[in-house]
Amino acid sequence: MTDESRVEKHYASEGITTRVLAAIRAASGPDVAITPDTLAPIDHFHGKGVVATEELAGALQPKPGDHVLDIGCGIGGPARWIAAKYGCHVTGVDLTAEFCEAARELNSLCGLAGRVQILHGDALALPVPDNGFDRAYSQAALMNISDKPGVFREAFRVLHPGGTLALFLAGTGSAGEPYYPLPWARTTAISFLAAPDEVGRDLEAAGFEIVYVRDIAATLAAEAADTVKRLEAERLPSLGEHVVTGVNAKEWRINVMRSVAEGRLSQIEALARKPV
Ligand SMILES: C[S@@+](CC[C@H](N)C(=O)[O-])C[C@H]1O[C@@H](n2cnc3c(N)ncnc32)[C@H](O)[C@@H]1O
Repeated sequence: MTDESRVEKHYASEGITTRVLAAIRAASGPDVAITPDTLAPIDHFHGKGVVATEELAGALQPKPGDHVLDIGCGIGGPARWIAAKYGCHVTGVDLTAEFCEAARELNSLCGLAGRVQILHGDALALPVPDNGFDRAYSQAALMNISDKPGVFREAFRVLHPGGTLALFLAGTGSAGEPYYPLPWARTTAISFLAAPDEVGRDLEAAGFEIVYVRDIAATLAAEAADTVKRLEAERLPSLGEHVVTGVNAKEWRINVMRSVAEGRLSQIEALARKPV
């Protein structure tokens, strides 16, 4: 089995759209409008939710009409949210066929099918032409990909000269291995963590100019330790990424937070530009 098929198996499940809609309607009533905002507690498929997407989009600053690429788009929450808030076109690429199907269904329900396109494919062979995008981002997906230089070369290929790439990913920490299982990998078999400086070197090797590469884990450590205590004491809220996975795994979330609190995971933010 290849790494890619292991990753797809990790994420795939049946009936994602049905579960998402049932959870939203149970929380907000049967007539709730299906919009990027009402879906946001579920469809930003990573621990920090819509807040992380908001921060990433703030760094990327898409303009109305821009063509933006989302590498590893999940069920399309960030893509829909950015298209709706910034008035741009977003193309999402994801390896997991069931996620692509759910993303397309939710795009239609939000009335965004004309501006958010979803392609089933691999970040290492993006199914899009050269120089076709003004901006690109990848949020919480690179931890599943060992060949990060290969992803950065692909991002470089598909951006216009002057185009920017924004990244958020978890990486190695200085205090040892993180605790597993984690949301992106039950074991080390499909968890490929890089150090922040390695990400910077790989971006430069692909041809990018670095605007910044930074690790914000230290600023999150105290909050992460508090979150561990809260999660241990409480049930998960009814809306969250567990609706997408179909597994109510509090342990995965606790392991992320404990690993961040103890310096076992970095939290890497990067912004890079393709030279003109
Ligand atoms: C934790 S989810 C994050 C999804 C989305 N970026 C978000 O923030 O809502 C990681 C995603 O990366 C995708 N992924 C992992 N490896 C990939 C690859 N080689 N090419 C494309 N997508 C990939 C997975 O299928 C999954 O949807």
